[in-house]
Amino acid sequence: MTMTLQDEIQRLKRERGAVILAHNYQLGEVQDIADFTGDSLELARKATDIQADVIVFCGVHFMAETAAILNPGKTVLLPAEDAGCPMADMISGEQLRALKAQHPGAKVLCYVNSTAEVKSESDCCVTSANAVQVARSYAPDQPIIFVPDRHLGSYTAEQLGRTFILWPGFCPTHARLTQTHIQTARAQHPGAPVLVHPECPKPVRDAADAVLSTGGMCRHVQGRGESTFIIGTETGILHRLQLENPAKTFYPLLEQAVCPNMKKITLEKILWSLREMHAVITVPEPIAGKARHAIEAMLAIH
Ligand code: 13P
Ligand code: SF4
Repeated sequence: MTMTLQDEIQRLKRERGAVILAHNYQLGEVQDIADFTGDSLELARKATDIQADVIVFCGVHFMAETAAILNPGKTVLLPAEDAGCPMADMISGEQLRALKAQHPGAKVLCYVNSTAEVKSESDCCVTSANAVQVARSYAPDQPIIFVPDRHLGSYTAEQLGRTFILWPGFCPTHARLTQTHIQTARAQHPGAPVLVHPECPKPVRDAADAVLSTGGMCRHVQGRGESTFIIGTETGILHRLQLENPAKTFYPLLEQAVCPNMKKITLEKILWSLREMHAVITVPEPIAGKARHAIEAMLAIH
């Protein structure tokens, strides 16, 4: 009997005592072999609660780093070592230190899409699922620096009727979505609600029916009567939406909204990663300890 790639991954996973975590933007076949698929917040929470010795993280580098920071004694593998996040790389620790020096007294909220060094310089992390709740926990007159995503930052500030000190970072995949795409999609699928991610630019968010994290989108559609939805985020999420809602239809707002880094992980790379125990993601002290503080501050709030 010939073993499939999936069988071989499952066999090695058991042998290594590993669990496989996958982000909602991963390839469908990767989501299908994962033990848990979720958004950044759900994955960070899951990473605090793992019994296995090895975590195979199917996502991008900052996500594997977060899992490593939360699990100092465990081995965290990223099957595609070069799967980075361009937005996370738009601000360095040095640039954040300079920004803090310009705004003494400001608290720093950093999107989890950031390097461990940037997290270590921050007071608290946020994800797209909890940014508003976390920011609300600060006094209304507390100056807040928000890095690196200017879109999630402006969305969060708007929800609270506040102004933040923003860094001009952005997600190149979500930056491709425009109001015109929404007009075209609405004309093609009349009555279908348009759900967009808060990483989208403001004109896109304003033209949508709801602004949600990827996990938020998965929950939102289940409680709705409509049978057709237009999804304004990375297209990998359509796999999960369709699987969980077979009677509903989901259209991408833009077929080309694909994050090339999220798509670097394949079944072959997962198998190779488990076989070679590569690439191990580690975060050195004292950065790991300080970054853990910012992540745990977030998890304690929401
Ligand atoms: P969420 O899954 O937390 O909404 O994050 C989106 C994203 O772009 C991750 O890189
Ligand atoms: Fe980074 Fe955007 Fe890709 Fe998410 S979708 S990993 S924010 S580039």
